[in-house]
Amino acid sequence: MKAYRAAILRFATDRDPGQAAIYEQDGLLVVGSNAQGTQVVQAVGPWHELRACFPDLAVTHWPGRIIAPGFVDLHSHYPQTNVIGSPAEGLLPWLENYTFPEEKRFASPDYSTEAAQFFIAELLRQGVTTALTFATSHPASVQAFFTEAQKHRMRLITGLCLMDRHAPPDVLNQPAANGRFDATEQSLLDTEALIRQWHGVDRLGYAITPRFAPTSSEAQLRGAGELAARYPDVWIQSHVAENKSEIAWARALFPASRSYLATYGDFGLLRERAIYAHCIHFDDDDRALMRDTGAAAAVSPTSNLFLGSGFFDYAGADRIGFQYGLASDVGGGTSFSPFHTMRAAYFAGREGQTKPGVSLSPQHLWWQHTAGAARALGLAGVVGNLQPGCEADFVVLNPQATPLLARKTALAANLDELLFSMIVLGDDRLVAQTVISQAL
Ligand code: GUN
Ligand code: ZN
Repeated sequence: MKAYRAAILRFATDRDPGQAAIYEQDGLLVVGSNAQGTQVVQAVGPWHELRACFPDLAVTHWPGRIIAPGFVDLHSHYPQTNVIGSPAEGLLPWLENYTFPEEKRFASPDYSTEAAQFFIAELLRQGVTTALTFATSHPASVQAFFTEAQKHRMRLITGLCLMDRHAPPDVLNQPAANGRFDATEQSLLDTEALIRQWHGVDRLGYAITPRFAPTSSEAQLRGAGELAARYPDVWIQSHVAENKSEIAWARALFPASRSYLATYGDFGLLRERAIYAHCIHFDDDDRALMRDTGAAAAVSPTSNLFLGSGFFDYAGADRIGFQYGLASDVGGGTSFSPFHTMRAAYFAGREGQTKPGVSLSPQHLWWQHTAGAARALGLAGVVGNLQPGCEADFVVLNPQATPLLARKTALAANLDELLFSMIVLGDDRLVAQTVISQAL
């Protein structure tokens, strides 16, 4: 067992997310191994109460530091690190002019490996310990990512990008080399083989990954839905209702469905563990479909601001009651930093509000990037929190990291003010250390 003494932030699971934070000014976090040999939280609470229960334990003391749950990033693209900051009028020209030309390079295993190494190192440097991320349509890109993720024992989830039409040939799925299967059949065979090879290995997970409805044939979406039914604990990830031109395109291609979102439902791709990026331009029937199927939204505010896509409607989501959490959406998104994402969510939440005068509280923002995102993934009580039983992924924050952070956090009169100071002023300098649960 190991023990750490510092301030500790975690979340109650039975309270409104806006008031769920629990903060020990002087806390003790005790970590030990569970029946599977994974390090999990054994005990957490005030130092003066818990110390006596563990009298013989050596304690690592971090005075002035805050231990907080590792961040959970609900949506990103590991092959788009080099695409960050590529300006375009909107989503579709951005895909055509910057994103597809970069993604075609991931046919190369070496290119994929270098990109995966950089991406994972950057996640850790920024305090992200769980991520759901796209690979490309090339199986080599998936193999490279899982291979690198396994070395770090991180909870990383990815999958082969399914796209068999409406994009340049070198970013589409390819037919079998021996000509026995067309590109659609081969993409589904590759998906199943990758699920069997990687899903549930160590802490890795597989996500069935249709890029978005416009770049998949009906046959590919149907096949993806069949795999999703056959492997219910595998994740699904895609995009929906991000941009007006994208929506018009999807509606023209699938006119029989009630809406763009409903297209995914019609092919069996809405269920628990299905994470849809953006979810901006929804009506209440779409929101109810998300709620009733258990699908969740990956809210990606830096991406939505950068690409001019619009604003996620938090009040609409809460009124109908579907799940959501925060995401960087690198490389449409502009930063790997969870602090930048939470800050942008605050701005976007004010702009997109349908209930004037209500803005997102700091506890709610932080929850969306930790315990709330974990719940959206079906991993509540596993990651994104530091309650007993949770896997011991955490960050050590240094609120004195910059002169301005030190000055401002010292003035905080309560927890909300402290959290808000870090959300507004924080970046990678705030993250002194990222600790990943290890197998013992
Ligand atoms: N829709 C389809 N592909 C993409 C992508 O790579 N990024 C974003 N933001 N939206 C998409
Ligand atoms: Zn995306």
